[in-house]
Amino acid sequence: MHLVLLSRSRSIYSSRRLVEAARHRGHHVRLLDPTDCELVMAGRSVEIFHGGKKVGPVDAVIPRIAQSVAHYGLAVVEHFGLRGVVLINDAGAIAQARNKLRCLQALAARGLDIPATVMARDASQIRELVDRVGGVPVLVKLLQANGRAGVMVCESLESLGAALETVLGLGHNFIVQQYVQGPRGRDLRALVVGDRVVAAVRRRTRPGKLARTLGRGARFAEVALGREQVALAVESARIIGLQVAAVDMIEAGGKTRVFEVNASPALESLEAATGRDLAGPIIELAEREVAARAAARGTRAAGGRR
Ligand SMILES: Nc1ncnc2c1ncn2[C@@H]1O[C@H](COP(=O)(O)OP(=O)(O)OP(=O)(O)O)[C@@H](O)[C@H]1O
Ligand SMILES: [Mg+2]
Repeated sequence: MHLVLLSRSRSIYSSRRLVEAARHRGHHVRLLDPTDCELVMAGRSVEIFHGGKKVGPVDAVIPRIAQSVAHYGLAVVEHFGLRGVVLINDAGAIAQARNKLRCLQALAARGLDIPATVMARDASQIRELVDRVGGVPVLVKLLQANGRAGVMVCESLESLGAALETVLGLGHNFIVQQYVQGPRGRDLRALVVGDRVVAAVRRRTRPGKLARTLGRGARFAEVALGREQVALAVESARIIGLQVAAVDMIEAGGKTRVFEVNASPALESLEAATGRDLAGPIIELAEREVAARAAARGTRAAGGRR
């Protein structure tokens, strides 16, 4: 199989591991920096050039698009898709995952449990906003077009008022979300590949660290998810349209809620926590999808007979 990994650098752990896993399975794999790709559309042809040369036949593309080049990177993914290449995460799904609000909207609309969330443009009715998500403490999550989000915990109406004044003053959109309280280590991350959870970890956060820094300062330990949690993770990825996803969930009061779905999960911390090869299952998924696509083409070529 001819594989392309779209990534800015081989020195990124996940990119390196995916290349290794593909080679290990005997595939031909190229790592292309999406910003070095030229997209040509003319007449009826849709071509991709890299380093001045036309990119030859490719069976599957695994995009690992950095936030800093999201717009261009997703156009490159889309272009490969238009050429009939299998995408292990297509551009539409990646874009949806990048948009926290659209993600939560889609999950809630399908009846999945998420932390109560409200979006507004007006902060004058602050008490009503807070009441809608069940009272303080709440989280304010910034929604920026460039995807660089920020999270703040507000423990009182006063601190929320001050935070929203700043956020609105800067012209940012935001959501106010119920701050799910619970014991330490209530954050779960499930790596979904296809319709399976291939790894799950619990984040052991350091005491005293909240929200955003809490994610960064975390350590992971492998965990066995319950059957409902597995179903929740798989269903979340499916709703967003992702074949590979890290689904972030929070456990409290006997309930598990999804708060984020990531399209380019970082493999390093997950492999470290589980001691397992997690790049392999992603390559195997690509193999299955390419085989399924070829079989479908064969069926069509044979006049649609099975
Ligand atoms: N509703 C919530 N209640 C309690 N804690 C939450 C909630 N939502 C998020 N958190 C915590 O805050 C952290 C950051 O939230 P989130 O993942 O939504 O933001 P982010 O911008 O993607 O940050 P990061 O890059 O650290 O993941 C999460 O890892 C989680 O521990
Ligand atoms: Mg996050």
